[in-house]
Order: sequence, then structure tokens, then C-alpha cells
Amino acid sequence: MTKQKIRNALLVHLVILFFFSTSVVSARVVSLLQNYGNPIFRSNFHSIYDTSKYGVFQLSNGLGKTPQMGWNSWNFFACNINEMVIKETADALVSTGLADLGYVYVNIDDCWSSVTRNLKGQLVPDHKTFPSGIKALADYVHGKGLKLGIYSDAGVFTCQVRPGSIFHETDDADLFASWGVDYLKYDNCYNLGIPPKERYPPMRDALNATGQKIFYSLCEWGVEDPALWADKVGNSWRTTGDINDSWASMTTIADLNDKWAAYAGPGGWNDPDMLEVGNGGMTYQEYRAHFSIWALAKAPLLIGCDVRNLTAETLEILSNKEVIAINQDSLGVQGRKVQVSGADGCRQVWAGPLSGNRLAVALWNRCSKVATITASWEALGLESGVHVSVRDLWQHKVVTGDAVSSFSARVDIHDCQLYIFAPFTVSHSVE
Ligand code: GLA
Repeated sequence: MTKQKIRNALLVHLVILFFFSTSVVSARVVSLLQNYGNPIFRSNFHSIYDTSKYGVFQLSNGLGKTPQMGWNSWNFFACNINEMVIKETADALVSTGLADLGYVYVNIDDCWSSVTRNLKGQLVPDHKTFPSGIKALADYVHGKGLKLGIYSDAGVFTCQVRPGSIFHETDDADLFASWGVDYLKYDNCYNLGIPPKERYPPMRDALNATGQKIFYSLCEWGVEDPALWADKVGNSWRTTGDINDSWASMTTIADLNDKWAAYAGPGGWNDPDMLEVGNGGMTYQEYRAHFSIWALAKAPLLIGCDVRNLTAETLEILSNKEVIAINQDSLGVQGRKVQVSGADGCRQVWAGPLSGNRLAVALWNRCSKVATITASWEALGLESGVHVSVRDLWQHKVVTGDAVSSFSARVDIHDCQLYIFAPFTVSHSVE
């Protein structure tokens, strides 16, 4: 071949490569707000609810189209778990009606396993607390129409010093799959100082290789800003350290998680940690705010209390269908803080787009006295003349059929009112 021919052949290859790579990338880029060219929305709508960072390289196990819902043992039981607790929890999820509302994952956290592997190098359930084994538990949970989650660690030990899965990824994933496990939470203790970006993908590959659909929940506590890379690794990623059952912890975590809103979407969610609703450390109003903001921010809704002993108030909060529907909305755009006023910005408006040209809007009073909070159309990204019907999701009724330009409400200390704003279409408002 002459030099000219070699050059031409190279050029042809380069052109083919260029077209191939751009078509692969553009097939992966998903615009979550495609339908929001509607004249009811201001031109800054896309910058208020930026989703441009979402979905460049989605993990394609098909799971997590909406944020995961279920229960996890850690926040209430910590290490005091056993197979009876897990079975009774599965029973209670069904008998309370929570399972029917979507809470289907029954997730065992740390402390289920023995402190050493067996002679074959396999993880073994603690024989005192899980004598029947995890397969039997998975069968029981599946028999109720629910799914079973398990926990391990991308390090040499779990946080409670049970064996971790680093360097055992394939064996452990195969074992979990053979038990029929549907979900893995993968923690970050005793990690040998190896960066999360190196420690988390091997378990993704091992789970994929099992051929079973296992939801992969990364728990590296936001250490290496997982929103920036974890969409190609897991279905959700913790953005913060551990929550505790207090107003200070819950509000701090809500704010830290908010920073990453543009990165979340169907298949990959920011995870500000599990719910504390019902554990006793916050007021009814604070728990209502916790649940409202988690729902609006498209956080996993993983109940963290003892569902075998729910108070009426806790059940009322956790089973609010209209709030759950915001979390599970098909559009999958994370709501965020859009407007603050008052001392230290304690009067807050959080909002996010929903399917059907609607918005979820929360008026959250983080001040130490009752406050009137106003959401302006400008902050929400609505044109100022747009007429909106406002439905209150805690009172379960339309509070005004025709709001224009702004909407205000009096909000109790630390409470959060949550609404669906349904703007009239332009032709509708002209009529
Ligand atoms: C870490 C995790 C928690 C919980 C505990 C268990 O702290 O972040 O959610 O799983 O470990 O030991």
C-alpha cells in the first residue's frame, strides 16, 4: 500500500469511529425535561431544574426506574436483628398495607453474618440469629410478594466487623444470587484506603455476571462525590454520612444531598440515607417534613422504624399515597430548594417538575416560630400570568383552584406543606 492509501484508509476508519462514538453517546444522553418547552414555563425553567448531568452512562440492569421503597433494619435495630424480626417485618409490611403502597424491599443491614468465613471462604449467616439461613428467609419474603435485600462492604470488614467483600466480589455475588437476594447495600468501612471508584465497580460486574437482577445500592457516604461517577456503577449512591434521628441531622443531610440534584434520574438516584420517621427523636411536624422532602428529592423511601409497632401518626405519614406518588412520579426529576427568605434562609421553598406539566412544591418552615411562606412563580419557573390549581397533599384537598403569580401559606414550626401545582394550559387560561 502506498502512503497515500494508508492515509486514506486511516481517515475512513477515523470517520467511522467518530460517527459510531457520537451515536452511542447521544443514545445514552437522556433529557428528562424534554416536554417542558410549554409556554407556561419561564425560559429559566431548565436552569432552575437542571438535569443536564443525568444519565450519560447509565447502569443498565433495568432497576430503579423510580426510587427504591422498602424497609431497612439499621436505623431502629442496629445489630439486634434475627430472622424472626425480618419475617415479622415482612408480615407487618403486608398487614399494614405498606407493601401495597410500594414498600417492597425488606433489607437486612449489618450483623447478619458470622464473624468469619467458612473453610470454603464463603460468607455464613450468624448461626444463632439466622439459623435457617438467608435462602429460607428470601423464600419467606418472596412468598409474601416482597423482595429481600442484604448488606456487605467494599472493604475487608463491615462497619460492625463482619467479613467484607473486597477481593471476594464474585464469590459473594454468586452466593447472594444463589440465595435469591434482590438488593445489595454495599458499605465503605475498612477500605484499605483504596478509592471508592476502584472498589465499587468490581461488585457491579460480579452482580451483573450472576444474570440476576440485583439492585445495587452504593454506600460510600458521599466521600468521593459519587453523583459524579456512580451512575455507571449503581442504582443509588449515598451522598452523605449517616443520618440520626434528630432535626439537626435530617436538615443538614437534606441540604447536602440537594447539591447533587442535577445528577439523579431513573436508574440512578441520590441517597440521603434511610428514613427516621417513627423512631421518636423528632416531632410529628418534623417527621412530616422529613418524609415530604425525601419524597420530593426522589430519595429512596426506606422505612427505618419498627413496622411491627407503628403509631397511627407514623403510619399516616408513611402511607400518604399522594406524597409517595410524587416520589414515584415517572418523570424522575429530583426536586430541590428554589427559594429562601427570613433569618438564615429558614423560610424555604423546595420544588420539582412532575409528569403532566405539574410541579411538586414544598413550603418548609425551618424557623423557630410559625411563618408565612410564599412561593413566587418566578422562583418556581412559571410565567407570572399562569393560573394554577393547588392541591395540599397532607390535607388531601385543593386549597385554591386559581392561584396566580405567587402562593403563600402559614406553616407551623418545622412543618412542611406539600402541594401539587397544576398550571392551567395556555388555551385553558385564555378561555
Ligand atoms: C455504616 C452505614 C450505615 C449502616 C452501618 C452498619 O455506618 O453508613 O447505613 O449500614 O454502617 O454498620
